[in-house]
Amino acid sequence: MTGAPAVLRAEGLVKRFEVGRGLFGRARGVVSAVDGVSLAVAPGRTLAVVGESGCGKSTLARLLLRLIEPDDGRIELDGQDLRALDEGSLLRARRHVQMVFQDPFGSLNPRMSAGDTLAEPLRLHAVVPASERAARVRRLLDQVGLPAEAAQRYPHEFSGGQRQRLAIARALAAGPKVLVCDEPVSALDVSIQAQILNLLADLQRELGLAYVFISHDLAVVRQVATEVAVMYLGRFVETGPAAQVFARPRHPYTQALLGAVPVADPARRGRRVVLAGDVPSPLAPPPGCRFHTRCPHADDRCRQEAPPLPATLHAVACWHAEQIAARQPAAAGPGPDAGTDTSNDGARQRRQRIVLQHLQAAFERGAPAPFSSSP
Ligand SMILES: Nc1ncnc2c1ncn2[C@@H]1O[C@H](COP(=O)(O)OP(=O)(O)OP(=O)(O)O)[C@@H](O)[C@H]1O
Ligand code: SF4
Ligand SMILES: [Mg+2]
Repeated sequence: MTGAPAVLRAEGLVKRFEVGRGLFGRARGVVSAVDGVSLAVAPGRTLAVVGESGCGKSTLARLLLRLIEPDDGRIELDGQDLRALDEGSLLRARRHVQMVFQDPFGSLNPRMSAGDTLAEPLRLHAVVPASERAARVRRLLDQVGLPAEAAQRYPHEFSGGQRQRLAIARALAAGPKVLVCDEPVSALDVSIQAQILNLLADLQRELGLAYVFISHDLAVVRQVATEVAVMYLGRFVETGPAAQVFARPRHPYTQALLGAVPVADPARRGRRVVLAGDVPSPLAPPPGCRFHTRCPHADDRCRQEAPPLPATLHAVACWHAEQIAARQPAAAGPGPDAGTDTSNDGARQRRQRIVLQHLQAAFERGAPAPFSSSP
């Protein structure tokens, strides 16, 4: 996604889950959670993956760490094919790709002190000799803004923000090149969110880390991303440099997402775009373009043929992207399009409105504090 050499690269990742299988029964269906996703992230860059709940973001994260096996596709770390590695080599490679989860309570062992939590990956990956572990634990705590005394405390003795700091320190302990952060601030208060985002930015600058940053919250994504991938029902529908995607979103879904984001400057404020139709079930994704059931521009071709995502800098998987772009004012958010309901009248129309509620709820809680990128 950038000209710089990627440290982590994925090509054509596919993951399907069989669901509803009893002890001896047949699977009731197959969820197509990730369907042909490719990405690349370079040192010092942040690729944000954004999309609604259930679109496959966490599945993608788990694939990137090979916590689950893809059904198809390739994952490369520094050019090395992770799927070709045996268990020992995979463990060594895993050191370089670490994960930060949304819920640090769930990812930290409640019976382990912070010191032991951090010493474990140091030992597992033989990062430093045993005699240097205690000093390295203190250094890790300091790097994430926790005092040295925190080493004696247990997860329940930390606040939510401090626990996430500890989870980040544990991810750093192995000396990774890439952090995959799955909704790392979604469970935190807005003021604490800003502190954790600042910490991640400082660490990225200091250590040259590459981030895959997963979020449903576009306000957060806008603050952290250098590149953006917009995901819908298992597929990337728009990818590109964050500045370009935010200034000139080209996929109707991205336009709808951004239309739901409050913009401070009234002159740049687009109309709120309201999508018609239900979110399709991932058990039976629509044929053709998966977005066609909600897209105001859909035609017969969209209903039959899946549009590819071209390998361009700012890429969009849409048959009609050119025509739609020609009708959009730059940086003004999506305009009024045929089939896009921006009015307030009519019970039938109101019933049809799917307003991306979770996105709006995030913003209605209040926009996060400004994101500092200064040291
Ligand atoms: N182990 C599993 N077995 C069956 N289905 C699964 C499994 N894991 C995920 N899924 C399904 O795959 C789809 C994608 O799930 P995933 O958790 O990746 O979405 P997500 O984008 O992370 O959602 P959220 O924003 O709510 O975290 C969903 O339909 C989900 O129900
Ligand atoms: S391909 Fe068709 S249905 Fe899909 S986003 Fe483009 S116009 Fe809409
Ligand atoms: Mg998830």
